[in-house]
Amino acid sequence: MTDVAERLDPEGLRTLQLERLRASLRHAYDHVPFYRKSFDDAGVRPEDCRSLADLARFPFTTKADLRDHYPYGMFAVPRDRVRRIHASSGTTGRPTVVGYTEGDLSLWADLVARSIRAAGGRPGDVLHVAYGYGLFTGGLGAHYGAERLGCTVVPASGGMTSRQVTLIQDLKPSVIMVTPSYMLTLLDEFERQGVDPRSTSLRVGIFGAEPWTERMRQEIEERCAIDAVDIYGLSEVIGPGVAQECVETKDGLHIWEDHFFPEVVDPLTGEVLPDGERGELVLTSLTKEAMPVVRYRTRDLTRLLPGTARVFRRMEKVTGRSDDMVILRGVNLFPTQIEEIVLRTPGVAPHFQLRLTTRGRLDALTVRAEARPGADQVTRDAAARSIVAAVKDVIGVSVDVEIVDPETVERSMGKIRRIVDLRERE
Ligand code: DLL
Repeated sequence: MTDVAERLDPEGLRTLQLERLRASLRHAYDHVPFYRKSFDDAGVRPEDCRSLADLARFPFTTKADLRDHYPYGMFAVPRDRVRRIHASSGTTGRPTVVGYTEGDLSLWADLVARSIRAAGGRPGDVLHVAYGYGLFTGGLGAHYGAERLGCTVVPASGGMTSRQVTLIQDLKPSVIMVTPSYMLTLLDEFERQGVDPRSTSLRVGIFGAEPWTERMRQEIEERCAIDAVDIYGLSEVIGPGVAQECVETKDGLHIWEDHFFPEVVDPLTGEVLPDGERGELVLTSLTKEAMPVVRYRTRDLTRLLPGTARVFRRMEKVTGRSDDMVILRGVNLFPTQIEEIVLRTPGVAPHFQLRLTTRGRLDALTVRAEARPGADQVTRDAAARSIVAAVKDVIGVSVDVEIVDPETVERSMGKIRRIVDLRERE
């Protein structure tokens, strides 16, 4: 069932990558003034890339570079060859606009189709897409990939949660694609309607667009009796379908390395780290036409591991983005670390928020977690004490914990916002 590239041997893959890399660097240099200038400033030419390791001599590209060339400045083809635009959410300032030629859209559909198949989806499956449709790449990316594989697609998009439950019961999808946090919202809604989520037709969930943990996988798999697998991607690189976890191993995400070349670098020095070491993921597109990216700094923290179910290297589940890292009294903390702790604490639901405040001249963090329905005060107090102790023990920092009533922590409708920053600004 795998396609030809998925069956390459490691040497064949490296040869293909180098050939594609050289062509892609040439394409970027010849057609995007930004790349021509940045390569020239660094004193490198596309032909200087003689081995995959030579890529390290080329300059990085950052989100700020894309913003500075808003909206069409990073395109390598005339605007009338661009068939579709997407944009990243961009919480502040200008969004980042990305473009696709017809060829790019076809490649994207192929890679999402490959991802769905690796996740356990098959032609003929009914597939429910609850990623948002629109400028966000989640909905349309999943949609065309599922059609390409030969699935019957239900384009539900995000929101209208009670209707989603009805659609799932009536149309009987076997696969769902949605953010893990919105999946939790859906599971709560099933229960609210008196339907056991374990009784649905769903067999596979393909979850991504935000960090989630092994504990969250366990929570979701137990509550609705499905295989929960991880999908990764970002608009700047193509959208969902850059990397996918295989259902047979569930051991991290295989990067579709025949189209995207990964590096992991030290986030501070930019030095390339050997496989196995944790750092920031940097991606270079090998075959994109409209918007090639060269050494794009994703700000996502992970490490590269050898292939298992496929020849391609894997990336470990993303710990978080460097932007989401909280520095609390000198200690680095990621929301995923708190997720692991909250989700293993008895009496607490998998819904929580992190509130950052100013206390005196220092930052303070309060974990606001929701009690499971029926958890009494004794259970809640014990849960609060246990979270405080586990955070101190595992992360090495003191936090406050508030256990609040069921249904009081804001629910996700798409990508969840874990951190609420209430710090005073000077
Ligand atoms: O979130 C693309 C996507 C849609 C991926 C649907 C998977 C499923 P952006 O909105 O540009 O694109 O956000 C990209 O989201 O840099 C990561 O920080 C985060 N992210 C995406 N997938 C994962 C994942 C889409 N599986 C940013 N695990 C990325 C952790 C993820 N973080």
